[in-house]
Amino acid sequence: MIEAPSARILRSMTTDPLTLNTPLIAASILSADFSKLKAEIDDVDRGGADFLHLDIMDGHFVPNISFGPAVCAAVRASTNAFLDTHLMIDEPLRYAPAFAKAGVNSITFHVEAVSDPLDTAKRIRDLGVRVGITLKPATPTDAILPAIDVVDVVLVMSVNPGFSGQKFMPEVLPKAREIKKRLRPDQRMEIDGGIHLGTIEQARAAGVDWFVVASAIFDEPDRATAIAGLRTSLAGS
Ligand code: DX5
Ligand code: ZN
Repeated sequence: MIEAPSARILRSMTTDPLTLNTPLIAASILSADFSKLKAEIDDVDRGGADFLHLDIMDGHFVPNISFGPAVCAAVRASTNAFLDTHLMIDEPLRYAPAFAKAGVNSITFHVEAVSDPLDTAKRIRDLGVRVGITLKPATPTDAILPAIDVVDVVLVMSVNPGFSGQKFMPEVLPKAREIKKRLRPDQRMEIDGGIHLGTIEQARAAGVDWFVVASAIFDEPDRATAIAGLRTSLAGS
């Protein structure tokens, strides 16, 4: 098994990624084998993933259903890793408390799902978790501006949310550059969708800090090698 270089040394499973200022890789369990979820989590943890990304889908905001707070609590019981939760649901404020109670560490909501993004961000922060805001590929930067100063992370979607294994949309990169210019040094930009060896460098060049990866890790037989390959691409960018 290949041990992932440098960034792995900085990391412990409980590290809050906001405290690190280095590119980080988040493994999205959406592509994991749910019949052996704990073993899958242990595998990507040992393989060098920096934290876990939990994709929550309600069948309304996106045309797919994934899992809810009970599975998040099971993941919490399986690992000390930082749990980054991506709510692809209508009414995020209605359900955010249940996810916080399940023990996740950050909650990211879609700006398209709320009428008042600033109020939403503040209320999620009041739950004692890190806060993220995200926008679909077609949503302009302007939509997130009311809340941009109060969030910890802006998640740029590089596919239309709903499924793993979709093709990266390079047309979101100018928007990523624009968003990065508006973020303070203590805030982070994350990207999600279609990140693999062929796309991670262009995302890094646009200023992305955190890279969410599902299929390019979990569909590979050796997850440590997959993660090490992504890190090598980042090191070269
Ligand atoms: C898509 C999800 C993503 C997804 C990424 O709606 O938000 O987190 O799991 O999958 P890949 O990396 O396969 O594009
Ligand atoms: Zn996601």
